[in-house]
Amino acid sequence: MKHIIAPSILSADFANLQRDIEMINNSEADWFHIDVMDGVFVPNISFGFPVLKAVRQYAKKPLDVHLMIINPDQYIEEFAKNGAAIITVHYEACTHLHRTIQLIKANGCKASVALNPHTPVELLKDILVDLDMVLIMSVNPGFGGQQFIPQSLNKIATLKQMALHVNPDLIIEVDGGVSTANLASLIHAGASAFVAGNAIFGAQSPPDMISSMKKIDAKLLNS
Ligand code: DX5
Ligand code: ZN
Repeated sequence: MKHIIAPSILSADFANLQRDIEMINNSEADWFHIDVMDGVFVPNISFGFPVLKAVRQYAKKPLDVHLMIINPDQYIEEFAKNGAAIITVHYEACTHLHRTIQLIKANGCKASVALNPHTPVELLKDILVDLDMVLIMSVNPGFGGQQFIPQSLNKIATLKQMALHVNPDLIIEVDGGVSTANLASLIHAGASAFVAGNAIFGAQSPPDMISSMKKIDAKLLNS
C-alpha cells in the first residue's frame, strides 16, 4: 500500500484557511492532520472546536485529530461529532488508556496512541492489539518546524516488529520534522503515514511538495 501523507493544518495560513483546505483537497494528500493543544500537556495553545468545524465544512478527506491535551476522555464524543475519523491521544496523558481507546471506538472513530520522544514503544505491548494506529512523535510536541529526532527510526523499527505478531494492520504514523530528506528511511523502518507541516506549507509549491512526498520510494534507498 502507498504511504499516507497528512498535511498538518497547524502550519496553514489561518487567515486563508479555506484556500489552504482546498489546496489539500485538490492535492495528492490523503488526510488532514489536526493538532489540538491545550497549553497544559504541551507548552502551546493551538485551536479547538470552532476551527475544527471550519475545517470540516470544506475538507473532503479524513480528519486525523491529534489531541495534545490532558483528560481527553471528556472531549472525545465532541471530536467524533465534529467529524474526526481518527483520534490520537497521548500515552503520557491517559491514566486509563484502555478505557480511552474503547471510548474512541464506541464513538465510531479509529483509535490511535501517540508516544513522546522519551516514551519507549515497549510500553504499548498490552494495548497494541486494540489500536488502529500508533503515532511516533519525532519532535517534542507543541510546535511545528522543529528538527527531526533520529532515535525515532529505531522506535519505528521496534514497533513494526512488535506489531507483526499481534496487529499486522497497525498503521505507524510519524509526526515532526518529516521531509523528503528522511521520508524514505522512515518508510524503510516501517512507518506508513506521515504528518508534515513546515515541509509542505513552507515549500514554494505545497501541492508539488505533497506530490514529491507521495512519490518517494524506500526501495531507492542505498543501504
Ligand atoms: C507538533 C505537531 C505536529 C506539527 C508537525 O506538536 O504535532 O503535527 O504540526 O509540524 P512539522 O512537520 O513542521 O514538524
Ligand atoms: Zn500532530
